[in-house]
Amino acid sequence: MIILGIESSCDETSVSIVKEDMGEGHILCEKVLSQVTKHRKFGGVVPELASREHSDSISKLTKDVLKKSNLEIDSIDAFAATTGPGLLGGLLVGCNYAKGLAIITGKPFLSINHLQAHALVVRMKGKVSFPFLCLLVSGGHSLILLVTNYNKFKILGESIDDAVGEAFDKTAKMLGLKYPGGPQIEKLAEKSKQNTIFNLPRPLINDNTMNLSFSGLKTSVRRIIESGKNQINTADLAFEFQKSVSDCLLKKVKLAIEKTKLYKIKDFVLTGGVASNSFIRSEFKKLCKKKNVNFYAPSKKLCTDNATMVAWAGIEKLRNKKKGDRLDTIPQPRWSLDLL
Ligand code: KG4
Ligand code: ZN
Repeated sequence: MIILGIESSCDETSVSIVKEDMGEGHILCEKVLSQVTKHRKFGGVVPELASREHSDSISKLTKDVLKKSNLEIDSIDAFAATTGPGLLGGLLVGCNYAKGLAIITGKPFLSINHLQAHALVVRMKGKVSFPFLCLLVSGGHSLILLVTNYNKFKILGESIDDAVGEAFDKTAKMLGLKYPGGPQIEKLAEKSKQNTIFNLPRPLINDNTMNLSFSGLKTSVRRIIESGKNQINTADLAFEFQKSVSDCLLKKVKLAIEKTKLYKIKDFVLTGGVASNSFIRSEFKKLCKKKNVNFYAPSKKLCTDNATMVAWAGIEKLRNKKKGDRLDTIPQPRWSLDLL
């Protein structure tokens, strides 16, 4: 089975062709066109600008991946696109383009939930099986999930305010770093000697739920910056921020592992843009070792937004459902994983 996936829910336009062979996925060609430099001067993603950029580049990217894979459009077995959650304008571009390709070739169209795609992509390697626990941390979401099938997600915990990536981005902005802030904070934190002079809070860490909260953390960083003027060591502050986020995530996942004992969970998956953070990855590897569960995370490139994960989720959907989705399926800017 060969599936072409399209991702256009935020500020990356991506097209990928993935081939399934013996239950595993192989990328034949993937292109990711980031719009980050176009949005940077606004300090965040401008929806109207994003949808225009998607619309300008989607056709060229599709032609490029077909050419690089040495495939004609008729060799594609189905067309998958992210149809939510995300920015409506971008979702419409990708969804309508995939539908058009499905119509002209007479092949199925597959409507894919972006979060489902983040959670499943690691299964391309054929190692992770259901049920598994998943921490999905991106710019828009922070979710602790029990995944029992390709379309069965139980939300065990989530952020009650800012998503983890959002907290990284906002904190980076306060520190005068470029958007997107996550990778910048990680780089800055690497320069820290890991002094613990800053004592940031660990919100909700002891509340015995699996929920998360990051807006207070961001406010504490702001107070430190405002009070310290030019004297603060920003590398130490970035390190302490990253450590605080990581401590909160670890504690809640530890609780999730304990509370789902009945499921005999063997695998834990860390995914989403923030999962490309090396410090957080290594902290979770240690936790999994202690708790005797296998640690998995997609390659760093597959943690941030990409169309390979959309194509792979399409493969899982078609394998199970055996047919495509209706052509009158419309994008859902808000689409929770428990409503698949
Ligand atoms: O999954 P993603 O690419 O897009 C969404 O679906 O939101 O995640 C983007 C988020 C941004 O907030 C970005 O700052 C964060 O992931 N991020 C990171 C790192 N790389 C990306 N956060 C922390 N450390 C990183 N290395
Ligand atoms: Zn994402």
